[in-house]
Amino acid sequence: MNILIIGAGGREHAIASTLAKNEKVNNIFLSKHNGGSQGKIINAEINHDDFEVVENFIKENNVELTIVGPEAPLDNGIVDYLEKGNHKVFGPKKSSAILEGSKKFAKDFMKKYGINTAKYSHYDTYEQALASINDFGYPTVIKANGLCQGKGVYICEDEKQAKNALEEIFLDNIFKDQGGSVVIEQYLKGFEASLLCFVSGNKIYPFDTAMDYKKIYEGDLGPNTGGVGAISPNPLWKEVHQAQSNQILAKIEEGLKNENMSFSGILFIGYLIQNDEVFVLEFNTRFGDPETEVLLPRLKSDLLENIEQSINYEEVKLDFEDNVAMATILVSKGYPKSYQKGYEITGLDDLEDIIVYHNGTKKLNQKILSDGGRVLSIVSLSDSLDSSRKSVYDAIEKIHFENMSYRKDIGKLEN
Ligand code: GLY
Repeated sequence: MNILIIGAGGREHAIASTLAKNEKVNNIFLSKHNGGSQGKIINAEINHDDFEVVENFIKENNVELTIVGPEAPLDNGIVDYLEKGNHKVFGPKKSSAILEGSKKFAKDFMKKYGINTAKYSHYDTYEQALASINDFGYPTVIKANGLCQGKGVYICEDEKQAKNALEEIFLDNIFKDQGGSVVIEQYLKGFEASLLCFVSGNKIYPFDTAMDYKKIYEGDLGPNTGGVGAISPNPLWKEVHQAQSNQILAKIEEGLKNENMSFSGILFIGYLIQNDEVFVLEFNTRFGDPETEVLLPRLKSDLLENIEQSINYEEVKLDFEDNVAMATILVSKGYPKSYQKGYEITGLDDLEDIIVYHNGTKKLNQKILSDGGRVLSIVSLSDSLDSSRKSVYDAIEKIHFENMSYRKDIGKLEN
């Protein structure tokens, strides 16, 4: 079987590397360039935003299954387009991807089905939002409605910051049509947990939990990033959270059924746990990054079989090893703002018992060069968080590229 994966970051490299273990799989094409591609994994380097180009590639390369990594093509209807041409695709249609594509839709869905979430209101204009800016006190959360590459959420400490957020969204129009309206939300304080689930029609099959480190600096300081570290299972997750999560999953299943939103793909639930009460912060309708880099190495069941079960709306028989995975992401200094790339990465051949997923690299003349803000995920699997943590940081000592930077406190628990 030949498989096309849309995207070519760390998440897609992890999906491809996991699928490559299945002997039924011949070629796995990544739609863009990934410096770590080798063996069955091949860089297609096509414009995946042009769905006709994608379909032509599928036909010319006998692709039997397409898996969509990032959210933007899902929101733009890539699944609808390819399914019309009778191609097998893993991912939601646009009408279900709206759970991630519109914050308002997601919050209204949660409210309608009694899913515990922060109080909120939604505004279409700057004037309306400004008049209600203080509704939830401070801090408050302001979210641009659409997909904003992870940059559309503002935690505002006071009215000045809140006004600034509204100005950026409505008056400066920095998110273009994705910022056409806002959700203003009560701020919740606690810890976050990521729960990825297979969706098979209107049934949900959860993975084990994960924890994502979003802030660029140690101690969870500085601006948000796409994620610079991850652990699975989430070490702060307890039985009391699991019980509430199970109730939430049942309510989501009811919603998917009643709203005719059945799909095959991933539902990634972003939880916030405040005083042991589980709230849903957001939905994503795709694999998380870097959560995927710590979840898939722990998968005992066969990923291709699980994907096919989801596509066929069958029971998804997921199984996990009883171990701990930890990832630290090596980034280019300056990320998530401006950074330089094109530096040679050395030391990767000296690593033992370490998984390396390439987030942003390029292979040129047999050299691997940094080619993004997030560059490499260094992942270790073992029977405890402490030993995974030690292995990851021992491995990082051996890796070098100019302007390499990383958090040294991934997996170091304060509480
Ligand atoms: N790790 C967060 C995300 O994938 O959006």
